[in-house]
Amino acid sequence: MTLSGAGTVAAVIGWPIAHSKSPQLHQYWIDRYNVDGVVVPFAVAPDHLDVAVAALAAMGLAGCSVTLPHKQACIPLLDEVSPLVTTVGACNLIVHKDGKLYGDNTDVFGFAENLKLGAPDANWQRPALVLGAGGAARAVIAGLSELGVPEILIANRTHSRAEALASDMAARLTSKLSAVPWQDAATAVGQCGFLINTTSLGMTGQPPLEIDVTGLSPDCVVNDIVYTPLETDLLRHAAAKGCTTVDGLGMLLHQGRPAFHGWFGVDPQVDEAQRNLVLGIK
Ligand code: ATR
Repeated sequence: MTLSGAGTVAAVIGWPIAHSKSPQLHQYWIDRYNVDGVVVPFAVAPDHLDVAVAALAAMGLAGCSVTLPHKQACIPLLDEVSPLVTTVGACNLIVHKDGKLYGDNTDVFGFAENLKLGAPDANWQRPALVLGAGGAARAVIAGLSELGVPEILIANRTHSRAEALASDMAARLTSKLSAVPWQDAATAVGQCGFLINTTSLGMTGQPPLEIDVTGLSPDCVVNDIVYTPLETDLLRHAAAKGCTTVDGLGMLLHQGRPAFHGWFGVDPQVDEAQRNLVLGIK
């Protein structure tokens, strides 16, 4: 699709940005839905964030996706943010409408949608164990709560971070949140219907995730938000135990849907060809 003079321009901002797969995943939808638009990556240094965000409105862009390290810093620069932005403490989507900038968090939708589609028969009344207490964990916890999971355990190498996250988010969510010591994660696994890795452990080039999954029951749904490799050691071990496993690529793809809809007015579908494109498989 060639952009016309009336075409809609959206951006992806981060620092660095060259690694981002967002332009590629949006370009797939632009072609598929014949949209007169484009999504352009911009490397925005932290010092320039305020000018870059103001430029969205000044230049008439439809908005932008926001990636590291700007997900928190962009919040005070916006006219309005959704309640989810406040709950998660991060904004990854800006939509420009009628001169105003609206912030949202679509990582929560991306995570929840991926898990729902990957584990359609899951019992959402069972507890979940979340590994990690960083930014990704916050989106995952908000997503589990939206899915109706009543109890969420958080295990993190730095226990105090898990405790702080549990007490901060508990005030905003209906699910019961509690921190469990990292060394007790293997025991907690046995009582859970969901196990989610939100750390970078197990990612290519990172240390392995060394968690004993002996106690994992086959009715536990296991999701790794790491998607390089697509089948992490955690997912491989869980599959060998008979668990339903959900890889992390879908979270990336589905988080793009509300962005595409917000900018171009089309609710796009995730499909196998797009997965392969983002994975670099022709
Ligand atoms: P993100 O925003 O992507 O979640 P982050 O805030 O840096 O990134 O969080 C990374 C998570 O991976 C944290 O939970 C971190 O644990 P700490 O809070 O103890 O740092 C976890 N993590 C990173 N490296 C780890 C390691 N070698 N062993 C255990 N946990 C690790």
